[in-house]
Amino acid sequence: MPHGGAPAGWLDVGVNLNPFGVPEPVRRALTGVRFDRYADLDPSAAARHLAADAGVPPSRVLLTAGASEALRLIATALLQPGVRALIAGPTYGEYRRLAAQRGAAVEELRATAPAFDPPIDALERELRRPDPVIAFICDPNNPTGRSIARGDLHRLTSALEQSTDRGPRLLVVDQSFGPFATARPSAAELLAPGRVVLVRSLTKLLSSPGVRVGYVLGSPRLLARLRAVRDPWSVGAHAIAAASAASWTLDPAAKRELSAWRQALADGLRTRGLRPCPSDANYLLVEVGPGAEVLVARAARRRIGIRWCASFGLPEHVRVAVRPPAEQARLFDALDAILPTLMESSCS
Ligand SMILES: Cc1ncc(COP(=O)(O)O)c(C=O)c1O
Repeated sequence: MPHGGAPAGWLDVGVNLNPFGVPEPVRRALTGVRFDRYADLDPSAAARHLAADAGVPPSRVLLTAGASEALRLIATALLQPGVRALIAGPTYGEYRRLAAQRGAAVEELRATAPAFDPPIDALERELRRPDPVIAFICDPNNPTGRSIARGDLHRLTSALEQSTDRGPRLLVVDQSFGPFATARPSAAELLAPGRVVLVRSLTKLLSSPGVRVGYVLGSPRLLARLRAVRDPWSVGAHAIAAASAASWTLDPAAKRELSAWRQALADGLRTRGLRPCPSDANYLLVEVGPGAEVLVARAARRRIGIRWCASFGLPEHVRVAVRPPAEQARLFDALDAILPTLMESSCS
């Protein structure tokens, strides 16, 4: 699968799902969902619930079939030849793919190893240019795990302030891994200056990729443009039920535990000679060196899915999800078997 996902029965550290599993209220809501009436496809109660959860009016919420549909709608409604698509890379490949499909001019500003600091100065400079632009930033970023400081987000939104009648000027903030990060600015704070839209996948947080649920937070005017290009009934009854029971937060105890697991993973990787980058997310980008692809292939033979990062333009890196200690122990055992001979085979 282009976006990862190991076969059933594997230890999958190649995808970034919530390590605490499906939240109980969501599991309950999904049991016995009705899907035999069109009324089951009415998203308004779920949208009201998500709006209250986010602290914004319901008119600012659009429920979608995953963040994937949200990004597709944004691209369809706003991108076209003559609009620049600015991308803070290395990052999730869909922004580029969708923008290129729409004929927009794609410009990627890339953060660099080893720390992959977000390229804020360069982004700000580009956003100050007065032409139509849709900028995609992922916060925290996939695959680097780096998040963007509150002040830097404000710099980016103010850079967009001048208007043009030749096309859109908008910052798309993909917050799909936001609940795993340290405190982020509230939705209301981020949306206040206008020209910002937030994209939130629920499939990661609810550990439910099979449900296909996410949402967009933005101005009612922008959401009307997205509704105008969407397919009818794109969000299924199970997604609506999951959204009605979801909350965009991880409780503080779980967050502390996640942070301890992330530290243990980083330490264990470092002890084994690998180089994890600083991360504010539920995964680590890890510099392996020329043996990265072989490492991933050998882990697969042991039924462990690790994400090789070549598709992000980082062939010497892998991405590893933060999982509970027992799963980390299995990963470390595999690495102890694989790593001693890795460099020989990758050079031969
Ligand atoms: C940054 C980012 N945004 C969006 C998505 C798509 O999420 P969904 O499963 O909700 O469509 C992904 C999936 O991996 C992702 O990593």
